[in-house]
Amino acid sequence: MKKFFSILLIIFVVFVFLFSKNVKKEDKMNIPKKKILVAFFSRTGEQYAVGNIDKGNTAILAEIISKKLNAEIFEIKVKNDNYPKDYNELTEFAKNEKAKSLRPEIIGKVENFDTYDTIFIGYPNWWGDMPMPVYTFLESYDFTGKKIIPFCTHESSGLGTTPGKLQKVVKGKVLNGFGLYGHIAQNDREETESKVNEWLKNLNI
Ligand SMILES: Cc1cc2nc3c(=O)[nH]c(=O)nc-3n(C[C@H](O)[C@H](O)[C@H](O)COP(=O)(O)O)c2cc1C
Repeated sequence: MKKFFSILLIIFVVFVFLFSKNVKKEDKMNIPKKKILVAFFSRTGEQYAVGNIDKGNTAILAEIISKKLNAEIFEIKVKNDNYPKDYNELTEFAKNEKAKSLRPEIIGKVENFDTYDTIFIGYPNWWGDMPMPVYTFLESYDFTGKKIIPFCTHESSGLGTTPGKLQKVVKGKVLNGFGLYGHIAQNDREETESKVNEWLKNLNI
């Protein structure tokens, strides 16, 4: 009986030794963590169905996503910003920008862009398209090999054809995007969070 317990003890000690060695090995493997960026464009001022807002509808989504995924956030801002604060004037201004395929100059740069493997791109649906400064942003970086995930706010059109347009500009893989009514993002935090959660869960990134 004594011999039996001694053998059992030896087996136990050997097992613990091997197991602890394995754990240390995994610690040392230095597996790189996924780096995620949430880049977005969004406007304050007068917006459809919400009146005058201090925080843009898409900005609200961007913040929720970045918090949930512990991702870096980058706001796409134009240089010499002269977008009108009045909604109707803004729609005319943006219509002209789109008609001329303008590329407004943007400020700032994403530092260490190469180190991100997953990039969320957020924007309001403007005339069924991405706002022109988003194109400026997309054309400033090399997205090859990255996962790209669009999200937008809108007031009925959803993402529309923007994922296809995005795909044309970037050469990375475009995953299932997410669209939400701007007034829901602005006024209903609970519904917004629950819809974002559901989408992120299905994305499985
Ligand atoms: C210039 C402009 C064009 C728009 N075009 C559309 C459109 O084509 N379809 C739509 O559903 N909503 C459209 N909207 C509504 C915006 O997509 C919506 O209000 C959005 O939530 C604004 O987001 P933001 O506060 O992040 O800028 C447009 C708004 C603006 C200002």
